[in-house]
Amino acid sequence: MAKISRKAAAERIGLLKRELEIHNRNYYVLSAPTISDFEYDLLMQELQNLEKMYPDLASADSPTRHVGSDLSGFEQVAHRYPMLSISNTYSIDELAEFNERIARGIAGDGNAPKYSFSCELKFDGTAICLTYRKGRLLRALTRGDGAKGDDVTRNVVNIKAIPQQLHGDNIPEEFEIRGEIYMPFVAFERLNAEKLDRGETPFANPRNAASGSLKLQDPEEMSRRGLDCVLYHFICENNPFKTHIEAIQAAASWGLPVSEYSRRGENIDEATAYIREWDTRRKTLPFATDGIVIKVNELDLQRQLGFTAKSPRWATAYKFKPESACTPLLSIDYQVGRTGAVTPVANLSPVPLSGTTVKRATLHNKDQMDLLDIHIGDWVYVEKGGEIIPKITAVELSKRPDDAQRPEFPKCCPDCGTPLVRDEEQSRHYCPNSDNCPEQIKGRFIHFISRKAMDILAGDATIEQLYDRGFIRELPDLYLLTPLQLVSLEGWQQKSVDNFLDSINQSKNVPFERVLYALGIRHIGETTAKMLARHFGSLDKLASATREELLQVPDIGGIMADAIIEWFASEKHRRMLDSLRGVGLHFEAEASDQERLSDALEGKTIVISGNFSISREEMKNLIAAHGGKCTGSVSGSTSYLLAGEKMGPEKLRKAEKLGVEIISENDFYKLIGQQVAEPEILF
Ligand code: IVH
Repeated sequence: MAKISRKAAAERIGLLKRELEIHNRNYYVLSAPTISDFEYDLLMQELQNLEKMYPDLASADSPTRHVGSDLSGFEQVAHRYPMLSISNTYSIDELAEFNERIARGIAGDGNAPKYSFSCELKFDGTAICLTYRKGRLLRALTRGDGAKGDDVTRNVVNIKAIPQQLHGDNIPEEFEIRGEIYMPFVAFERLNAEKLDRGETPFANPRNAASGSLKLQDPEEMSRRGLDCVLYHFICENNPFKTHIEAIQAAASWGLPVSEYSRRGENIDEATAYIREWDTRRKTLPFATDGIVIKVNELDLQRQLGFTAKSPRWATAYKFKPESACTPLLSIDYQVGRTGAVTPVANLSPVPLSGTTVKRATLHNKDQMDLLDIHIGDWVYVEKGGEIIPKITAVELSKRPDDAQRPEFPKCCPDCGTPLVRDEEQSRHYCPNSDNCPEQIKGRFIHFISRKAMDILAGDATIEQLYDRGFIRELPDLYLLTPLQLVSLEGWQQKSVDNFLDSINQSKNVPFERVLYALGIRHIGETTAKMLARHFGSLDKLASATREELLQVPDIGGIMADAIIEWFASEKHRRMLDSLRGVGLHFEAEASDQERLSDALEGKTIVISGNFSISREEMKNLIAAHGGKCTGSVSGSTSYLLAGEKMGPEKLRKAEKLGVEIISENDFYKLIGQQVAEPEILF
């Protein structure tokens, strides 16, 4: 890592600590992380490096020195032995260093004794510590803050895999066994489908679902969630076993659930081979894994190696990296969206990534730029977030050119020059000049005329022209355009004038739900607009709905409800609505609103699996709206398996076996002739 000044390091350490604590809370307490593990690990790594560079800046409360805490609302009990985490790496080279450290650590003054490894899957769930006394389950604690955990025994007794009574020989009087509670993909999909049916937010991944479920205050509901368990760490006073593998095999013989995929490795090369094998094979497992754990097998050597404050020296986790590419950052554009949000967008030297060439990637906001400490000229890592908009996840500091320039986030709107304001809650900068900022005005028109909205036959260039000539400022102006104005535009013939005016006229027949979408209320996408239109039936009813009434609508959360209320509260918007009503747009739902969007999927039967950029409920509605039928399981009559992120391996296997075509979310949008995502950012 490049040397940085003490002052800069102190500032950066402060920023990283704050950021990591927020992510710890999102992950451990709320079961709803907002960044990937990889991004989290990069931040942690950077903090560790800075603290190594300036040890006096490493405070006792640093996230590098304690594990995140999951404590919440249960009785707390002290752990008999601290419940630590494990160090991790994403590189095979670092694994070799881990091996060298072990050899040094156990060699003393002489030669290192022979040692072996236990190579295991890293189950992606939530850690649990079980205590058995006289063969009976006494207590189950979560990791908590590492020193004390939440007592979740009353929930754990409902997990079928965990025996309350052990059977067999030589069961120690009392011992602890630690492991992971996880949710298999099948149970995860079922739970999320149920949540969606109830209009609740689904869990983002099986890990969050497992930790959220384990903390339920209703054990009966918890027992329906299909949680599973695997145990991988045996701890006992006067441990009767010589190796970790022996202990785990004995535990299995007493009826405890252990992994069937673990393997002994005679040396680090065998451990590395195990990692390479499972990097691909893990995709076929019916549960989520996020890496491989390598442990020294001999318990006397484990004792000799001991622990750091946070993790054992005898184990490490090799984590699987999401697919990414590294490429130079050429420049940054600051795009003003129709809502006024200013998004930094990176222009990259084109690079291939997962089947496409990436030239642009989002940097989200100023906080993200600061966090990455990004400079123009840097080599940056790009990943495809959710398969759609690529994002920059890290900077390769070792390749930073001497003349790399730190970019200055604009203080004023790059379009109209108005000083930007910062929305703390959303960590975004906005141009507040919504009435007069040309980009925002043009953006509103471009959205209004788009195919999913009013479907007026014109492109961005026409909007530019009309705007530049001063013919349009507010949405109703479109309906006041005259043939005389239009023929005066450069390149327009009578025929194009007629077509355009005809298309504007036709748009008066567009159903209410699309008119509602066309208004461009923040956070209200196509599917949400449809839901609102069907629920309230008319614009007047929607405009007078209270927050509580809005929250009754499936998929409408607090942020959306507030955005709707704020939008309708504006005097300017109300005047605009009066004008649009005056020109004859539909402000009421009709029976015909239930009509199809297209027949593109007529006669097709589709099975969906995994997570998409829209909710599963929205995906099902979309399939129905295009004439398709959605079914739960793959069979010979399935036309497509629509594969999302982290799809169930069972469905995948069945589809492959039956020769059912497997399509991605992007393929699906192409099938129904729809653009991907709702672009505030246009790539
Ligand atoms: S051994 C002293 N083995 O990963 C630590 N942990 O990120 C002993 N995990 O804290 C842990 N699979 O919650 C171990 N086969 C495995 C594991 C595993 C998943 C979890 C565990 C751990 C975390 C570290």
